[in-house]
Amino acid sequence: MNQSPGIWDRLAVPFSVLAPMEDVTDTVFRRIVQAAGAPDLMVTEFTSTDGLCTAGRPRVIGRLAFTPGEKPLLAQVWGNSPERYLRVASEIRAMGFDGLDINMGCPVRKIIARGSCGALIQNPGLAAELIAAAREGAGGLPVSVKTRIGVSQPRAAEWLAFLLSQGLAALTVHGRTVVQQSEGAADWGAVALAVRLRDEAGLSTRIVGNGDVRTAEAFYRRARESRADGVMIGRGVFENLFLFAAIRGGAETEFSALAPREKIAWFRRHIDLHEETWGRAGRFDVLKKFAKTYLRAFEGAGRLVDAIMHTRTHAAAREVLDAWLLQPAVAVPAGNADP
Ligand SMILES: Cc1cc2nc3c(=O)[nH]c(=O)nc-3n(C[C@H](O)[C@H](O)[C@H](O)COP(=O)(O)O)c2cc1C
Repeated sequence: MNQSPGIWDRLAVPFSVLAPMEDVTDTVFRRIVQAAGAPDLMVTEFTSTDGLCTAGRPRVIGRLAFTPGEKPLLAQVWGNSPERYLRVASEIRAMGFDGLDINMGCPVRKIIARGSCGALIQNPGLAAELIAAAREGAGGLPVSVKTRIGVSQPRAAEWLAFLLSQGLAALTVHGRTVVQQSEGAADWGAVALAVRLRDEAGLSTRIVGNGDVRTAEAFYRRARESRADGVMIGRGVFENLFLFAAIRGGAETEFSALAPREKIAWFRRHIDLHEETWGRAGRFDVLKKFAKTYLRAFEGAGRLVDAIMHTRTHAAAREVLDAWLLQPAVAVPAGNADP
């Protein structure tokens, strides 16, 4: 039996989705992306069901933090225990998410070795149990899966047909194998195949394609050619923070064409929001990695990124940016702004 489609039925086709990205798409970056262009749907970083159900909970619960402006929003989870999926799914429903997404694609070796995420492609029995437990716990909240097309070899037809038989509200297909990680080109033929299998089976499962979409033109071309209902974009947003605005037809410019002062203002906004949200407990090294997203395509941007990489506090990072604004031509000596 298919479950209630909920949010998935309210999205106009083709809809855009901000991909889940660990250490990237936390509540802070999601609010930045929302302000810069607003995708139709967003997803949290993947969150461990084991972590949520054990003493490690305080370390992972922040991944599920969100503000109302980030909705519609899916919580993405991973793990191997049906009992824990049952518990976590009902908690996620109570938290006010619009859906629960199960990660069946992450290729990180440690995680694969535990039989989780991408390794589930080789364990359909457990995959089915996890989906059933999530559906039971979610009590009507839509459950979806994000997956790849195989472990070492592509076996899209078999695996995607299997997943489609599990009554999912939506299925996101990243057209690479686990072993491929991010290498090679994503196979959008596998996305088209998922659409065909869905139609042949007469199902209403939404199909979302993912992989290598970096422009509004590619968004519409991929959606048209594959007939996917939605397109999920991850890394493309680092290259152009205004990508989702461009997809909506509302972007006046690409992010890279902004004046340096405006790029710095966006980064400052991120730094301020990060400090406000996570305080000193927030992992500053994770924040620093965003410097390259904002500080790009202008004279001296590389040196400014280097200087940011040497800071250790929000205040120090702000000082580096302010110093550059006062005297853009002068390189900021690395590390000078740390207290
Ligand atoms: C830094 C980073 C972190 C990621 N973390 C997750 C994650 O938590 N869950 C997930 O399903 N995929 C994760 N992915 C994979 C992306 O969601 C997406 O499938 C992949 O980047 C391909 O899409 P793209 O070419 O649009 O980036 C991550 C990717 C990157 C680059």
